[in-house]
Amino acid sequence: MVFDYIDGAAGEGLGESLNRDRIQALRLQPRVLNNVEHRSIAVTVFDQPAKLPFGISPMGMCNLSSPHADKWLATFAAKHSVPVGVSTAASTSLETMIEMAQGHAWFQLYFSGNEDSSNALIKRAEEAGYDTLVMTVDVPEVGRRPRELRRGFKMPFKMGPSQVIDFALHPRWSVSALLHGRPELANFGGKYGAFERTASRAGADWTLLEKIRQSWKGKLVIKGVLSADDAVRMKSMGIDAVQVSSHGGRQLDSAPAPIECLQKIRHAVGSDFPLFFDSGLRCGEDIVKAYAMGADFVFMARPLLFAMAAEGEKGLVQLGDVLSSETSIALAQLGICSMQDIRPEMLVAS
Ligand SMILES: Cc1cc2nc3c(=O)[nH]c(=O)nc-3n(C[C@H](O)[C@H](O)[C@H](O)COP(=O)(O)O)c2cc1C
Repeated sequence: MVFDYIDGAAGEGLGESLNRDRIQALRLQPRVLNNVEHRSIAVTVFDQPAKLPFGISPMGMCNLSSPHADKWLATFAAKHSVPVGVSTAASTSLETMIEMAQGHAWFQLYFSGNEDSSNALIKRAEEAGYDTLVMTVDVPEVGRRPRELRRGFKMPFKMGPSQVIDFALHPRWSVSALLHGRPELANFGGKYGAFERTASRAGADWTLLEKIRQSWKGKLVIKGVLSADDAVRMKSMGIDAVQVSSHGGRQLDSAPAPIECLQKIRHAVGSDFPLFFDSGLRCGEDIVKAYAMGADFVFMARPLLFAMAAEGEKGLVQLGDVLSSETSIALAQLGICSMQDIRPEMLVAS
């Protein structure tokens, strides 16, 4: 059930695989005999130095993958000075996450139908010291994800006969969950009320965004944009960055490939407006391709949870090393020494 929650996508998963196909089909032009001995994969995000060219996309209930997943992600973010996205539906409270990440945390807001409770969350994030708010806008309704539905995945967690059988068949996961306690929606409960994952957010509109822009004084990132017109409108409203994303293919199965939307959106908003990207990045060359398609910074999600589910913190560290090394080697093959040297012209037809 947990694997299907993490790995699953909307509908038949065609949108997710289309994006992977399009990323894989992109070709990078090698160049030779440039001295590429001294390379760096560091970048800046909102004028802050980041040691890696990718951050951690917000994910709900990360501790389902492994009981200490949130802590390890926060530690990773602090070590590499990259942002960890802290989901509204996180399994560790937003206050604890920013502390463990030593400030390298961005709060992700799922606007709820209840404006007061959303405003209360925004206020809490501000008081906890967050300076960047990521508002996710591609979930007016939660996408239908058949693999989750088939397994009876619910948030908060519900145990029925099929879950008992599932857990019995996966003793390593179950024993560890028993020892560390059931993961909770840590930003909710008690005086903070309940989180209803499948609640409709269909009432959110441009007026709401305008209000949030006016009330949030820090950086405001809008996540889940695939339309150039929407991105241009956000830019004109004073949004600080747009995160091009299909939610990892978890929302509209028939959406266009986000990697191609990224290029269109870059053309529409011009070269200076900050664009972030997530969805379907799986290796260092993918990261380089996303930068060549117009991203200023990228985020990853599922691979991090899988690394921790397989090998705990060691798995996450190893994944970080592999991605860094692959990205640096890709730069060398392109004949360049930094992420800032990546140009759209490096993408070629095969
Ligand atoms: C298990 C899981 C939970 C997620 N929860 C959230 C969330 O709470 N908020 C959000 O904005 N995006 C959420 N996402 C979407 C990711 O932030 C991201 O957009 C997407 O997964 C990136 O694609 P990738 O997994 O292919 O790297 C979630 C994704 C996964 C896999």
